Amino acid sequence: MIETTLTINGQEHRLRADPRTTLLDALRNHLGLTGSKKGCDHGQCGACTVIADGRRINACLSLVCMMDGVEITTVEGLGEPGRLSPLQDAFVRHDGYQCGYCTPGQICSATAMLDEVRAGWPSVVTEDLEGGAALTTEEIGERMSGNLCRCAAYPNIVDAIRDVAGAKEAAE
Ligand code: FES
Ligand code: FES
Repeated sequence: MIETTLTINGQEHRLRADPRTTLLDALRNHLGLTGSKKGCDHGQCGACTVIADGRRINACLSLVCMMDGVEITTVEGLGEPGRLSPLQDAFVRHDGYQCGYCTPGQICSATAMLDEVRAGWPSVVTEDLEGGAALTTEEIGERMSGNLCRCAAYPNIVDAIRDVAGAKEAAE
């Protein structure tokens, strides 16, 4: 057993777990935070995406014992009913989900992705490497390509992301 201290959604947790325990299993099975979903368990679907020290990661590919001192945000930490984050609200307004299984990962991923864009990080489809990326459908599709949706709610997911990105731009 290995002891790990990490902060999850602003609250410090000390966990004793088998060193093979993934962050995803620790969140779901040890802490009861079942918002992060297990789809493939192989890093291929993005359903388990959480934000670790500001960067999106696949929780199914991360061992919890490697997370000592790390700040994790899951979909539960972004907002809750009555206090939704802008992306959570936009997914509802744009009907960005059907079964909802991929939605927590999509929202965590998009939350960190918008910060990456604001920080000026290019993607492989960004033409102007100096000037920042316009969030076209192609740009959003590339940046969100690690998050699959079996229900193919993609058009509405893109609309929701674009809505929030536009609101952020307008506020700057
Ligand atoms: S469950 Fe982690 S990427 Fe699919
Ligand atoms: S809404 Fe069903 S998998 Fe995306």
